[in-house]
Amino acid sequence: MIHIIAGTRPNFVKIAPLIWEFRRRGFTNYKVIHTGQHYDYKMSGIFFTELNLDEPDYFLNVGSGTHIQQLTGVMKGLEKIFLEERPDKIIVVGDVNSTLAGALAGAVHKISVIHIEAGLRSHDDIPEEFNRELTDYLSDILYVSEGWGMANLSNEGMRGRLIGNIMIDTLVAKRRQFKKPPYDNYILVTLHRPENVDREEDLREIVEMLNQIDEKIIFPVHPRTKKRLRKYGIELKAELIEPQSYLSFMGLLENAKAVITDSGGVQEESTFLGIPCITLRYSTERPSTIYDGTNQLCGRNSNNILYRLENPKDGEIPELWDGNTAKRIVEELI
Ligand code: UD1
Repeated sequence: MIHIIAGTRPNFVKIAPLIWEFRRRGFTNYKVIHTGQHYDYKMSGIFFTELNLDEPDYFLNVGSGTHIQQLTGVMKGLEKIFLEERPDKIIVVGDVNSTLAGALAGAVHKISVIHIEAGLRSHDDIPEEFNRELTDYLSDILYVSEGWGMANLSNEGMRGRLIGNIMIDTLVAKRRQFKKPPYDNYILVTLHRPENVDREEDLREIVEMLNQIDEKIIFPVHPRTKKRLRKYGIELKAELIEPQSYLSFMGLLENAKAVITDSGGVQEESTFLGIPCITLRYSTERPSTIYDGTNQLCGRNSNNILYRLENPKDGEIPELWDGNTAKRIVEELI
């Protein structure tokens, strides 16, 4: 029995291709555990619908909270399930709090832990980096999405397997269903990292930069960012819209002139689609989007951001981002 653990929006996009591949092969000996880290319909339920996923077998309802609250909440919930079901493998994806909680609970219960998207390192002090390092350390099989991840693991004395980028499988499979946006000639913005939005001065700095852009800006606002904008009374010239479903967001990305973001996944998806990407961070765990792809790292430096918007970068698609990653993983697993 394999347990697949997912808790946030990007996790749902990463587990979908595995489930499609299990179904295609008639493999049914698996269960899906939703930790409940994301719980709003717009952040969770709609992804299950659009990605043709069944209701999860378990929902842990951990909700929002501190890193420790989310880790312990998920671990307690998983322990109960593991004791009843005794899975022999668990799969965790990405770098969110639910990922590390899954790996910890699996390791404590001596269940083989498989980490998809292993080896990525941003070498900075953010919760995701903590989650990445520890999840890899606790995992038995490390599936890596890009060459740099292999080098990181080997530097830390671990061995990964370069298998490809599973998020790109979803993009390839669903591309024809992307929804055409009701806008044209726009720049897409996404912003949700605590290091950008939690402190008033950082968020103001970013908004002042965005307000200098002449083009139309479409900005689907993450709930974390929405709360902060409201709390600090910050006004934006952009068109603010609700968090988008997968198919709507990908339609917005595919048709944008450029994207300004601090998301990990959007850096990769824009590289695949050939859309210029400006990343509002000082380092990235996904360097192939810079060395191969269309991504440019700008931090919060507004001159740099505005210059890079005028001077976009061409890119190529990194090795093994081909839509067949889940096939390769499942082939090895079952
Ligand atoms: C989490 C991940 C981040 C990932 C992001 C994708 C961690 C440490 N962070 O960040 O790596 O890029 O998901 O979206 O795991 N909220 C709602 N409704 C929801 C979910 C959240 O309103 O369905 C609000 C709550 O106010 C909550 C805040 O958003 O406090 C943050 O949610 P949380 O899951 O802690 O982190 P994200 O910022 O979403």
